[in-house]
Amino acid sequence: MLVVQGLHAKVGDKEILKGVDLEIPRGEIHVVMGPNGVGKSTMGHVLMGNKSYEQTAGRIILDGTDISDFDTAARAKAGLFLAFQYPVAIPGLRVSEYLRNLYCLRHNVQLGVAEFRKIVREKLDMLDIDRSALSRYLNEGFSGGEMKRLEMLQLALIKPKVAILDEIDSGVDVDAQKTVAEAIKKIRESDGTSFVIITHYQRLLNFVSPDKVHVVLDGKVTRSGDMSLVHALEREGYEWVRQTSESFSANAAQ
Ligand SMILES: Nc1ncnc2c1ncn2[C@@H]1O[C@H](COP(=O)(O)OP(=O)(O)OP(=O)(O)O)[C@@H](O)[C@H]1O
Ligand SMILES: [Mg+2]
Repeated sequence: MLVVQGLHAKVGDKEILKGVDLEIPRGEIHVVMGPNGVGKSTMGHVLMGNKSYEQTAGRIILDGTDISDFDTAARAKAGLFLAFQYPVAIPGLRVSEYLRNLYCLRHNVQLGVAEFRKIVREKLDMLDIDRSALSRYLNEGFSGGEMKRLEMLQLALIKPKVAILDEIDSGVDVDAQKTVAEAIKKIRESDGTSFVIITHYQRLLNFVSPDKVHVVLDGKVTRSGDMSLVHALEREGYEWVRQTSESFSANAAQ
């Protein structure tokens, strides 16, 4: 279970997160939506301990332990995973080599190339990724959709407690979206992984059926609900959330 309480963070002098509260129980799929630039990716980076951002207040509690002081490697070891909105290319590092190292490190095992190949092939098939991807260089020359699937492949191998997927469905065709959604459901089923899915689109959500939906406006979660909130957003836009939330809090204050 991941609990985020009153999370504030800044980059330079600019405050971006202004009190994010979230509670993600084991095995639940939560969605984070919101207009461009409100701090969704920043939230992912701060949760993962990216040093470009400074956490100025709040707590990040994973299975009862406050991990706010952990560095990124320690957070990954504790069970957090972030799939980036913009994955980085690492020239000269082969996908197979990278994944085997990652797998061995995370599961504390030593595996030879042949043994690892058996494990990875099953996941490649699940994600509909061509086997030839393994001998290519990490994210170099991969198409946008292929990179997103590689991120999912890492996730399937690592089996984290909580996976944050930042726009995993952007630039991905409809068949790949179904594949990603099926993978999310399978991983949740087999490993009890919780998901935080950051997205702008309804389509992936129709396939995964999330447990909860959160709307972020101006650095905090302004509204939470179920899939009906996604449908309402599609109809009304974010201004509607802003206005109705203001009237909610004005009523609450009276
Ligand atoms: N490293 C950084 N340096 C300077 N400004 C940053 C940095 N990271 C984020 N910001 C700023 O913080 C704000 C929030 O950015 P963030 O990427 O979190 O938005 P987002 O909600 O993910 O938007 P989008 O939907 O467009 O992906 C933006 O104004 C962005 O320019
Ligand atoms: Mg973003």
